[in-house]
Amino acid sequence: MEEIGGPSASLSNFRILYLITQMVGGAIIILVGSWIGVHLGGLAWTRYPSIQFNWHPLLMVIGMVFLYGNSILIYRGFRFARKKPLKIAHATIHALAFLLTVIALIAAFDSHNLARPRPIPNLYTLHSWVGLIAVILFGFQYLFGFVSYLYPQMKEPIKEMYMPIHIFFGLTGFVFAIVACLLGLLEKAIFSIPDYAQLSPPGVLVNTIGLLIIVFGGLVIYLATESSYKRQALPDDVILLTGGTSE
Ligand code: HEM
Ligand code: HEM
Repeated sequence: MEEIGGPSASLSNFRILYLITQMVGGAIIILVGSWIGVHLGGLAWTRYPSIQFNWHPLLMVIGMVFLYGNSILIYRGFRFARKKPLKIAHATIHALAFLLTVIALIAAFDSHNLARPRPIPNLYTLHSWVGLIAVILFGFQYLFGFVSYLYPQMKEPIKEMYMPIHIFFGLTGFVFAIVACLLGLLEKAIFSIPDYAQLSPPGVLVNTIGLLIIVFGGLVIYLATESSYKRQALPDDVILLTGGTSE
């Protein structure tokens, strides 16, 4: 018989929180899309630089928040899958997040450089500094993660020694991304909502998106650090460590 509060109870708590995390993440993307569609004039590319900007928040919340968080959680969410496909999925989802982030950055820089009658200065806000740190951390993390665990792969003791560092910087980059989003939302709200102080509908919408991003970030960090939710090695993983071919 299972003990009350034993491993299977802990796994069912994980499943419920994981489902809530996905719903909150989906809601964030839908609400950012609605904000852009209803209040910010939709989407365009370089012909209308101020509208081109709108790709920035949309792709950042999909890439640096939703995909980043989901990639971190993949080992725990799909704990019964084998390690090798999980590693490939982890690296692929992070790569997709990075690609969306690059497009989001191009949209933000274009919206400044192509602005008429004169360009807007770049990288002068706290938001842009925190955001840039998140992206740089992400880039290094990807490079070191890839080289250590996917190709060419380090020796086993080095992999083990590096893992806590990999986890620490992975989560730190994610926290920076969450903070950057909050600062960016506030900044855009102040720039674009003239009656923000009157609690107007777009103001309430932006504040709600910010709160949901905090909830999503908190849930991801909790699910990724709670030790009872950690994926346990499968028998297959052990074969891999002893020289099998599927890793
Ligand atoms: C992790 C996510 C994000 C990162 C890494 C990020 C990064 C950046 C960077 C580096 C810039 C500077 C562009 C330039 O100087 O030309 C910028 C601009 C901007 N971003 Fe973000 N951003 C993120 C999310 C958001 C979100 C969700 C919003 C919400 C609307 C937003 C709003 C803005 C605004 C208004 C600007 C133009 C003013 C400024 O330079 O601060 N950002 N962002
Ligand atoms: C920006 C890129 C990356 C970030 C932010 C990141 C972040 C993380 C985090 C937070 C964990 C802990 C997950 C957990 O304990 O459940 C983790 C685990 C791991 N990551 Fe990454 N990672 C990145 C890239 C990579 C790459 C490219 C690889 C290469 C395959 C990789 C391989 C691994 C492995 C093997 C684990 C251990 C999973 C386990 O507990 O068994 N990571 N990563």
